[in-house]
Amino acid sequence: MIDPFGRSINYLRVSVTDRCDLRCVYCMTEDMTFLPKREILSLEELDRLLGAFIALGVRKLRLTGGEPLVRKNVMWLIERLGRHLGSGALDELTLTTNGTQLAKFAEPLFAAGIRRINVSLDTLDAAAFGRITRWGNLEQVLDGIAAAKRAGLQVKINTVALKGVNEHEIDDLLAWCGREDLDLSLIEVMPMGELDTESRMDQYLPLSVVRARLERRWTLDETDYRSGGPARYTVVRETGKRLGFITPLTHNFCESCNRVRLTCVGRLYLCLGQEDSADLRAPLRASDDDAVVGDAIRAALRLKPKGHDFMIDRRSSAAAVPRHMSVTGG
Ligand code: GTP
Ligand code: 5AD
Ligand code: SF4
Repeated sequence: MIDPFGRSINYLRVSVTDRCDLRCVYCMTEDMTFLPKREILSLEELDRLLGAFIALGVRKLRLTGGEPLVRKNVMWLIERLGRHLGSGALDELTLTTNGTQLAKFAEPLFAAGIRRINVSLDTLDAAAFGRITRWGNLEQVLDGIAAAKRAGLQVKINTVALKGVNEHEIDDLLAWCGREDLDLSLIEVMPMGELDTESRMDQYLPLSVVRARLERRWTLDETDYRSGGPARYTVVRETGKRLGFITPLTHNFCESCNRVRLTCVGRLYLCLGQEDSADLRAPLRASDDDAVVGDAIRAALRLKPKGHDFMIDRRSSAAAVPRHMSVTGG
C-alpha cells in the first residue's frame, strides 16, 4: 500500500477496545464514557478486517487500546492472528499494554507467536504510580513484567516524560531497565483529548532537556537501529540496553511514517495527529466479499495527510486533536 506521498504503509496499529482498567491523567478523564458494545466490531469482524489489511501488504500488526488485554476473549483474536505469522504473511504481531493483566496472559501471548511487547510504565514509585494512573497498583504491573520475561517475551518500557511528575525519576528508571534487561523509550506528551487535569503546558517536558540531564551520568551511543516505529534509539554504554526517544513535538518524523490506525469501531485514522479517517465498518458489514473491504481500505489510504501539527505553547494548550489517545492507542 502506497500513500499519496509515496510512503509505503506496512504497519497497522489496532485499538481493540477503548476501555482501560487505569485512567492515566494525560490520557483519560476520571469519568470517561466508553463506547456502547453494539458499536464495537466483534472479534470475528476484526479478524476478517485485519486479514484484508494483511492481504494488502501490512507486515506488522500492533494491538493497543485502551488496554487490549481487558477485551473479553482477546486471546481468541490473537491466536487467530498468529496464523499469519506461521504463513509468513506477517513479520510481527505485537502489543502495547499497561501490564496489569500480564501475569495471566504472558504465556498464552508467547504461545500465539508474540515475541516482543511494549509496557507503559511512567514511574517506579508506588505512590506516584497511583497518582498518574489514578488507581493503579504498581506491584501488579511489576509482577506482570516479570511474568512476561519468564515467558520469553522481550519487553520495552514506554515512559511518558511529565514535567514535575516523573522527571526526577527518569534516571532511576534507566538504571532499573539496565538491571532488569529492558529497553526503554521516552515519549513526549502529546496534546490529545480534552482533559480536566492540568494544562498541557504544565505536563510538557521536551526530551532534549531530559536527554541532556541523562548525559551527565550515562553515555548514550548513537545507533542506526530502528524498530519500525518513530523512536530514535541510542545504546546506553553502561547497561548495554537501548534508550529510545519519541519526540513528536521537538522532532517531526512524519516524512518516514509507515503506519495507519484502526479503532475498535472500524474507523481507520490515517495519522495520530489529524482527524482524517474513513469508516471501514459499513463496507465490512455490507458485504461478505473481501474485495469490497480491500477497495475501501485502498480508498481510505488516499486520505493520508503529510503529517501532524502538534504544537504546545502558551497560546495553545488546547488539544490539537479532540479524540483521546485511548481511541487509537498511540
Ligand atoms: P516499536 O517501535 O515497534 O517498539 O513501537 P512503537 O514505538 O511504534 O509503538 P508504541 O506502541 O510503543 O508507541 C509508543 C508511542 O509512540 C505511542 O503510544 C505514541 O505515543 C507514539 N507514537 C507511535 N507512533 C506514532 C506516530 O506515528 N506519530 C506520533 N506522533 N506518535 C507516535
Ligand atoms: N501523549 C503521549 N503519550 C501518551 N500515551 C497516552 N496518552 C499520551 C499522550 N497524550 C502513551 C501511553 C502508552 C502509549 C500507548 O501511549 O503511556 O505508553
Ligand atoms: Fe489506560 Fe494506557 Fe490510557 Fe493509561 S495511557 S489510561 S494505561 S490506555
